[in-house]
Amino acid sequence: MQCRLVVNGFLSSSKFSEIYAWLKAAFEKRGHDMTVCTNIELAFEKTAVTEPILFWDKDVTLAKGLEAMGLRLFNSSRAIEYCDNKALTYIALKDKVPMPTTIPAPMTYRNIGYTHTEFVKKAGDLLGYPFVIKECFGSFGQQVYLAKEPSQAMSIVKNTREPLVFQKFIAESQGKDIRINVVGGKAQAAMLRRNEKDFRANITIGGKMEKYTPSAEEINIAEYVCDILGLDFGGVDLLIGSSGPLVCEVNSNAHFKNIYDCTNINIADKIAEHIEKCMDI
Ligand SMILES: Nc1ncnc2c1ncn2[C@@H]1O[C@H](COP(=O)(O)OP(=O)(O)O)[C@@H](O)[C@H]1O
Ligand SMILES: [Mg+2]
Repeated sequence: MQCRLVVNGFLSSSKFSEIYAWLKAAFEKRGHDMTVCTNIELAFEKTAVTEPILFWDKDVTLAKGLEAMGLRLFNSSRAIEYCDNKALTYIALKDKVPMPTTIPAPMTYRNIGYTHTEFVKKAGDLLGYPFVIKECFGSFGQQVYLAKEPSQAMSIVKNTREPLVFQKFIAESQGKDIRINVVGGKAQAAMLRRNEKDFRANITIGGKMEKYTPSAEEINIAEYVCDILGLDFGGVDLLIGSSGPLVCEVNSNAHFKNIYDCTNINIADKIAEHIEKCMDI
């Protein structure tokens, strides 16, 4: 099979190029031919592509343009769009799976910013303190904040121009979460992440990972979430609530090196297998 890997041309760190190399190797090992190109190249030469696309990018506009040409994308533009934006993820999953109460913030314009911040106090009244403030488009825990008191919440909001969600802080899960990687509707690998020094469990900011066998309930939630969002593959983050798991967020382009180091399960192989199955090869 001829396959195309689309990546973001503006991301240059080895953290990303390593993932691309793994994906390419997984396909080539199975006898497929995989060409890698960037969203910058495709912005100008979309019509050159006719093969199925492993779309390892968040350029939703490009993804929609390629789909409009009849191309099959793994993941689809809709799945990427809903996962990339934490407010849309919440709206898609609310009342279907347990999630911490989440309030999408009112939208402002980038050239204006949050010039009124009374609504932040309302969020605090509804969620209690501390509560979590997340930029809708963040990754690696880097745009997730804990507001311990009203003045801190105000200053977090005043100092950004990004779309935000406010979320109830799940204190029992402080510094701890479960990552489950799902491919083709099935949970494939899981790890528990723990950070003693920070409320965010992400490995990038110091979380330590350990092998974890998810419960049937956790597996069901992770698989159902991917089904609702239409993900061919994804990484589901679960918080550990006092009365069961809660969906924290969902990643359409979940990095898989850490989970490999932790479990020896290569998600790139699973993705290759899944695409073969979908393309009937
Ligand atoms: N509502 C919450 N309550 C407690 N901890 C949370 C909450 N939301 C996020 N966290 C912690 O912060 C980490 C990063 O948040 P997440 O929503 O997964 O953003 P990112 O996309 O940056 O990984 C989570 O892995 C979890 O450890
Ligand atoms: Mg996360």
